[in-house]
Amino acid sequence: MAEASDPGSKPRIELPPLPADAIPIVPIRNVALFPGVVMPITLGRELSIAAAQEAVRAGHKIALLAQRDASVEKPGAAELYQIGVLATVIRYVTTPEGAHHLVCQGESRFRVVEIVRETPFLAARIEQIPEPTNTSPEIEARAAFLKERAAEALSLLPQAPPELRQLQKELGEGDSGSDELAELDGQLTQAGMPPPVEEHARKELQRLRRMQEASPEYGMVRNYLDWLVALPWSKVDPEDIDIERARQVLDEDHYGLDRVKRRILEYLAVRKLNPHGRSAILCFVGPPGVGKTSLGQSIARALGLKFVRVSLGGVHDEAEIRGHRRTYIGALPGNIIQGLRKAGTRNPVFMLDEIDKLSASLHGDPSSALLEVLDPEQNSTFRDNYIAQPFDLSRVLFIATANVLDTIAGPLRDRMELIELNGYTQEEKLQIARRYLVQRQLKANGLEPSQVTITDAALARVISEYTREAGCRNLERQIGALMRNAAVQIASGKSSSVTVDAPDIDAVLGASRFESDVASRTSVPGVATGLAWTPVGGDILFIESARLPGNGKLILTGQLGDVMKESAQAALSLVKSQAEELGIDPKIFENSDIHVHVPAGAIPKDGPSAGVAMFVSLASLLKHEPVRPDVAMTGEISLRGLVLPVGGIKEKTIAAARAGIKRVILPARNRRDLEDIPQSTREALQFVWVERVTEALAVALGSAAPAEGDSEPAETGPPGALARKERTRRQPTSGPVL
Ligand SMILES: Nc1ncnc2c1ncn2[C@@H]1O[C@H](COP(=O)(O)OP(=O)(O)O)[C@@H](O)[C@H]1O
Ligand SMILES: [Mg+2]
Repeated sequence: MAEASDPGSKPRIELPPLPADAIPIVPIRNVALFPGVVMPITLGRELSIAAAQEAVRAGHKIALLAQRDASVEKPGAAELYQIGVLATVIRYVTTPEGAHHLVCQGESRFRVVEIVRETPFLAARIEQIPEPTNTSPEIEARAAFLKERAAEALSLLPQAPPELRQLQKELGEGDSGSDELAELDGQLTQAGMPPPVEEHARKELQRLRRMQEASPEYGMVRNYLDWLVALPWSKVDPEDIDIERARQVLDEDHYGLDRVKRRILEYLAVRKLNPHGRSAILCFVGPPGVGKTSLGQSIARALGLKFVRVSLGGVHDEAEIRGHRRTYIGALPGNIIQGLRKAGTRNPVFMLDEIDKLSASLHGDPSSALLEVLDPEQNSTFRDNYIAQPFDLSRVLFIATANVLDTIAGPLRDRMELIELNGYTQEEKLQIARRYLVQRQLKANGLEPSQVTITDAALARVISEYTREAGCRNLERQIGALMRNAAVQIASGKSSSVTVDAPDIDAVLGASRFESDVASRTSVPGVATGLAWTPVGGDILFIESARLPGNGKLILTGQLGDVMKESAQAALSLVKSQAEELGIDPKIFENSDIHVHVPAGAIPKDGPSAGVAMFVSLASLLKHEPVRPDVAMTGEISLRGLVLPVGGIKEKTIAAARAGIKRVILPARNRRDLEDIPQSTREALQFVWVERVTEALAVALGSAAPAEGDSEPAETGPPGALARKERTRRQPTSGPVL
């Protein structure tokens, strides 16, 4: 195609190039151009068009010479005056209708020295005629007056066309900004906006050109246009999904998490096979520090895409998602558009971090705005209030994270594919520390691997005695502290390499925080270890009972909720009613008050599931037998002494394993939750399923071998109203639920 000649086109005549000092001539009639003046000239004749095109092609100026006789169509050199105006070509436009327009600015007068060519256009060597430079106050005054008048006339025009604008500039009208606007104009062309958006932007730019630079509106429109040109309207990074490479990257960045990684790879495979299909939106759910955010970064790395993160914690105003209208002072786009500007591409991995922390307020519901962001039906034309033009979000890879699901609005939750991450066991943390955190902290502190060694025993001690968390945040922090200490020793020349072993830790990190917490606390009768569910994973909790002289009152402290108080009363009644079988002197209740305290008093606690632990705590107190330190328990109690099922078994058992508990006492009817418990936790714990509080007590006090029957326990009647309440109450409170 490219080779074939167009039958309609004229044969090309090869001409010798113009001498370097020759200027193409455009003959003009009925018009005059003066030096300094900008003027459009319509070109109708072949020879004018050819001359203008040559000037544009070669970057020459153009010589305008008036014809002696306006009726001559093809003037030769003899038909032209010898003195004309040399001009700069500002613009050369060919309209779709085939008309040619030349916009030029007169520069100086010239005289023809020699005509060097007559066809297909005239060209001549010329000599410039210098302008007289003498001025007088009168001339200056007249010039100033004329300028003023011209400026007034211009300001009456509805919209300044480009040539005349040029004139404004000539007149020196406040135009320091026009360079800036020309630059903006260029950026606008390059921004790759969809045509309707570009059209809109150009209109705004026109508006801007007519505004006073000092006016507040100028600043607003200017900012707006800056936002428009900065958005990645058509920038898309190549998305070459290589599953094998992705697998490698995920493994490089994270230990374990096999199920999660597998799910991520499936997701990527689907996206690869169907790049324009609706991608699921992944949502990582789990306690803090288990790697949710860093998995998002890892996915971006695996795909070679940009990563942006928006923290939704505490966002309660719809405008934070979707922006403020431009009419507000200080308005800005919302954080979706801001994130995309930061990413600089239309297909980054975009993390909506802590999506469960969004909350509605009187400023609108941000979750409904997010719903629109995540809806494949709507998000190709997402409208930010500030930008006020549709932006296509359909190629963005959204990934969300949450600690809990309960606070995520139903429709939003339905739109996402939930992937749970549980807390890590001691052993997993040791691996993570050894393979990842130590390396990272070495690097962060400018140390070589050969310079600092932290032994496994030391790491294990940091994990069990200096941190108590589901994830790895504090662990990493503590390892960082060890590294900094080593760095000081090395930098000060005290030693060239440092080995940190278990006994060295106290000197650096201080006395251990959770050292044999369980063991020391439960060494006296009256303390039982309970298990709590909290929004950030499970935790262990101590129930402490004490007896003091009195007359049978029950004192409860530790910010207990009503349900928990009732639970304590039920436990005491049960102990009283079974006093004889338990070997407790019933008279003891007449001359004593019983005080039940649940430490960490500043944190409100509620729920019925500490019933068993309360019973065990009271029985231990009154029987003067301490509870075994490696046992923890959860379960609601009935007044008949039955143990009723409770919620949060998975989180509670993970927390128990983390705290070094070896044996957990659980309601028999919670056996169905066993399959939810991660394998590593199941391996770390011995489960004792009980139907009656007396069985629990026997195991807790160590007076009985754990009853670990395989047979399904007998039905113990419907779970109490309290148990049901707990099951449905999983909305996070600020504190633990027992
Ligand atoms: N399985 C893991 N392997 C390696 N590092 C991990 C793992 N899980 C968590 N981390 C590290 O622990 C730290 C906290 O993780 P982060 O992603 O901030 O947790 P989250 O977002 O779940 O609160 C990060 O440095 C992260 O890389
Ligand atoms: Mg995070």
